[in-house]
Amino acid sequence: MKNISLNIEKTLGFISKEAIYAYDARVKTCSEALEKGTGKGNDFLGWLHLPSTISKELLADLKATAKVIRENCEVVVIAGIGGSYLGARAVIEALSDSFALLKEKKSGPIMIYAGHNISEDYLFELTDYLQDKKFGVINISKSGTTTETALAFRLLKKQCEDQRGKEIAKKCIVAVTDAKKGAARITADKEGYKTFIIPDNVGGRFSVLTPVGLLPIAVAGFDIEQLIAGAIKMEEVCGVNVPFNENPAAIYAATRNELYKSGKKIEILVNFHPKLHYAMEWWKQLYGESEGKENKGIFPAAVDFSTDLHSMGQWIQEGERSIYETVISIEKPNRRLIVPADEANLDGLNFLAGKRVDEVNKMAELGTQIAHVDGGVPNIHITVPQLNEYYIGQLFYFFEKACGISGYLLGVNPFNQPGVEAYKKNMFALLNKPGYEKESKAIQARL
Ligand code: PA5
Repeated sequence: MKNISLNIEKTLGFISKEAIYAYDARVKTCSEALEKGTGKGNDFLGWLHLPSTISKELLADLKATAKVIRENCEVVVIAGIGGSYLGARAVIEALSDSFALLKEKKSGPIMIYAGHNISEDYLFELTDYLQDKKFGVINISKSGTTTETALAFRLLKKQCEDQRGKEIAKKCIVAVTDAKKGAARITADKEGYKTFIIPDNVGGRFSVLTPVGLLPIAVAGFDIEQLIAGAIKMEEVCGVNVPFNENPAAIYAATRNELYKSGKKIEILVNFHPKLHYAMEWWKQLYGESEGKENKGIFPAAVDFSTDLHSMGQWIQEGERSIYETVISIEKPNRRLIVPADEANLDGLNFLAGKRVDEVNKMAELGTQIAHVDGGVPNIHITVPQLNEYYIGQLFYFFEKACGISGYLLGVNPFNQPGVEAYKKNMFALLNKPGYEKESKAIQARL
């Protein structure tokens, strides 16, 4: 069976292979620091061997709970933000029929999202949509106190209980949270909800392979065992003892750090399949929150091609030369569609007749790569054999492992996010949250 693969050939006109391979010893040190737990943030390394250590009991419990939710709900709302929702959404959207929501026949509950914004319009329209639906909620929050998620859950819990009665609500509301602390835990225990624990030593953005990601993915009807199998494979392929030149996580981490050193401050993750949009969002969070600190860090951006070739394409081709691209290429599409011949050929597209649509897409991909490299944009290429649970599991673990190494190469703690607190403090002060009296006074004086 194939694995996802990494190709850095198209960066080599910009940085040298020697410079990349010179990272070998430093990467080894970083990788060992992760393995031995001797580096910064070493209390958050639970993700490192999560795939290979997940228990059969937990998997069975997740699948059984997913079955109950699927049987009792036509709509399931995932309430969570950041690491507490992006991984699940990334997998579900990558694997779902793009038009599932609009199709009459459904193969499982409709999955929708809340708790990742505080928009009154969004929440009103959501609760309005749910009014005549048999819906359930998966409330995901490690701290259990995140305002966006807690506010959405307050609304959804009440609505679910009012519409479906407390007894059914109990079957249809599940909490994924800390073992002991936080409001989500207190509420779940008091109401008797089924709960799953987020391990203490796994941070939000590294938690997709805990119940945070696995429960919603299983509820959506996807194979979580295959997802984990893919991640286990990458645990092996990117392992601490795998030599640099055979280790994709090591090479990716080294290449992006060398590009950064050469002045390429922005990494643009590229896809040619709209289903991957949220996988890009997940990646942006993983790298942005892990590396952007101490006035350092590559800015992670993302584009959906060919859509964005008609907007951001101009900037990428000819704007400031501070960028490089990492393209995620799907080798084999899951569906088959041939361009039909047309006798009149009014659109002039008969030169494509008989070809698969994917062949056209692949030529757009290749043409773009050549154009962008010619325009001064180094190109890293990741090939994913097919879009399925197994290869998404590989991709996620590969990115997580590379992120840990890359953060250490940069000299930061990739596992904290102190910067996220600043806006919260101000918001609480502005809203006069009890306990923020001093901050309230100080911020009011600045307005
Ligand atoms: O990666 C992270 O730690 C964050 O993005 C969190 O996942 C996010 O802030 C949500 O936090 P919580 O799960 O505590 O509600």
